[in-house]
Amino acid sequence: MSRRPGSAFPALWESLLPIGRDAGTGGYRRFCWSPAELECRAWFQRAAADRGLRARADGNGNLYAWWDVPAASLAGEAGGSGGLLPRAVATGSHLDSVPDGGAFDGPLGVVSAFATIDQLRAEGFEPARPIAVAAFAEEEGGRFGVACLGSRLLTGAIDPATARGLRDAGGVTLGQAMHAAGHDPAGLGPDDELLARLGCYVELHIEQGRKLDGLGAAIGLAESIWPHGRWRLDFTGRADHAGTAALADRADPMLPYAHTVLAARNAAAEHGALATIGKVTAQPGAANAVSSAVHAWLDVRAPGTSSLDGTLDQVLTAAAAAAQAHRVAFSWHQESSTPAVEFDSALRARLAGALAGRGITAPVLPTGAGHDAGILAARLPTAMLFVRNPTGVSHSPAEHADPGDCAAGVTALAAVLRDLAGR
Ligand code: GLV
Ligand code: MN
Ligand code: MN
Repeated sequence: MSRRPGSAFPALWESLLPIGRDAGTGGYRRFCWSPAELECRAWFQRAAADRGLRARADGNGNLYAWWDVPAASLAGEAGGSGGLLPRAVATGSHLDSVPDGGAFDGPLGVVSAFATIDQLRAEGFEPARPIAVAAFAEEEGGRFGVACLGSRLLTGAIDPATARGLRDAGGVTLGQAMHAAGHDPAGLGPDDELLARLGCYVELHIEQGRKLDGLGAAIGLAESIWPHGRWRLDFTGRADHAGTAALADRADPMLPYAHTVLAARNAAAEHGALATIGKVTAQPGAANAVSSAVHAWLDVRAPGTSSLDGTLDQVLTAAAAAAQAHRVAFSWHQESSTPAVEFDSALRARLAGALAGRGITAPVLPTGAGHDAGILAARLPTAMLFVRNPTGVSHSPAEHADPGDCAAGVTALAAVLRDLAGR
């Protein structure tokens, strides 16, 4: 039996689409271990069960659906000596979202992976090594603040006790949230046995930018990820009456905060970097009171470490000076940090070859966005396929990929998995 390329995609995509979408904004609120994200997990289990794939969660809450290979058809590592199981080819992405995120960031990779398995089976493909579809937990850090938390835990890039104690905006810890969802937080931590079973990881993802559109290409390959990180900035002043406190008497944390927003923009422009303050809270939050405290989250990304450090130093120095000028206390705390990642060049060349074999030319692009493939790159060869995003908009309800390009993504992933998991 053969199947029109990508034809399994639309129904699967439609089945995930309503979960966690806010009716007002049209954006997704799939925060890790929240009811909406648990529905996504149930969707994953169903997609696996419908395909006869063995679904498992690891101790960190990352999900895997395994296309196991019968013992008789196993290809041993390097020719099958020593009874070693061949290492699996893993693919997938994540199902959680940023607040009011788009439909594609993460889910496109997971849905495409299941659709690709359908496609390969319809074509009669029999893998010689296992294929795993993965959905990593808390990739966005949208609830507990640390991006790629599931893959960091898996690879030992974050201490499990620290992770267990991370709190969401309501004070709930990761440990409590997992426990409430029926997942034992005692299992958090590195899993070398699982990692040893993975030969490589290929993540398909919507492009977060519009370079492919400019190049007239539906599919791209990732070259590298910029170094990046998140910092929480705390400005502490004194609450006072908006109608009676004289300007000269105030210790208003909103003023150094506002100065810092502009300083971030200027520092980024000077260093060829990106700096964003996209989240801010003010206490006590009264329209008729000077704030007692302002907390802001700074995200900085840059093509290199020196431009990242230069941007950050400039912003923190400006924040400290502005705080002092307004008699406000200032402190900061790094919530997450990711060094520059160069994806495995041999694996990328292999992907390019497999794509070329299907007549697909895939430009190679760097990106400022973080991905689990970047974290896993510390432990195994990883690569990424990008699917064209005509507007480039992401982390927004306006994020979009055309159906034809989603189908092209399945065709591309099928070519790659055939090559990597075939005989
Ligand atoms: C994840 O999408 C990130 O780059 O923040
Ligand atoms: Mn994202
Ligand atoms: Mn993503």
